[in-house]
Amino acid sequence: MRKPIIAANWKMNKTVSEAAEFARELKDLAKDIFSVEIVVCPPFIALGAVGEVLRNTNIRMGAQNMHWEKSGAFTGEISPVMLRDLGCRFVIIGHSERRGYFQETNKDINKKMKSAFSFNLTPIMCVGEKLEERESKSTLKVVEKQIKEGLAEIGKEEIKSLVVAYEPIWAIGTGKTATPADASEVHAHIRSVLSSMHDSETAQQVRIQYGGSVTPESVGGLMKEEGIDGALVGGASLNVNSFLKIIQFNNSRV
Ligand code: PGA
Repeated sequence: MRKPIIAANWKMNKTVSEAAEFARELKDLAKDIFSVEIVVCPPFIALGAVGEVLRNTNIRMGAQNMHWEKSGAFTGEISPVMLRDLGCRFVIIGHSERRGYFQETNKDINKKMKSAFSFNLTPIMCVGEKLEERESKSTLKVVEKQIKEGLAEIGKEEIKSLVVAYEPIWAIGTGKTATPADASEVHAHIRSVLSSMHDSETAQQVRIQYGGSVTPESVGGLMKEEGIDGALVGGASLNVNSFLKIIQFNNSRV
């Protein structure tokens, strides 16, 4: 049975003190929740403070991006070693905002994925189609390419611990959530691609989140789908009460 995983992606929001305050509140409010893996992904500069607050709790911390090299002359970049040192267990890789605004390619993403695994960070690899790709019915093809290229040359033992976030770009920050049935179709396709790259036992272990305008109202319907194992939440994760409601979704599978 895959344990659901719900992650907050704060993007470029919250100062260090705001982030630490959120972590203190969430730590108390969510202290009895063990049926869901809870992850918060603050901006880089808040990782130190949030990591201190969340140390030895049931809440994990992730970064929103990283460089693939361990160290070196890469001005402005952050390495996987630095993230581990601050207590990160997770890292979001290939978010559509990184792909779109910062020209990250599947090749870059593949380097980051290999690096994350080798430094013991669990990557949350984001995939998803643009509106015109959905309209031209190429969603499954686009997502398949992102999965195959992003995960090239990665062994099945690593793949088993992977988290994929299916985030249709037209649904991010727009208030338009994919229907549970539409999301579920893509999730099933992702799992079948993983199965063709490795085997079905491996594919069955991968957790696939949905992301894109998830709210306390929409999360329950999404989580009822068999192949949806959690959510990557942007806007609705910025408020602690709203994020708490999302992690308390009524999950009949648990
Ligand atoms: P949203 O963002 O929930 O604000 O749509 C999700 C994401 O980009 O991860």
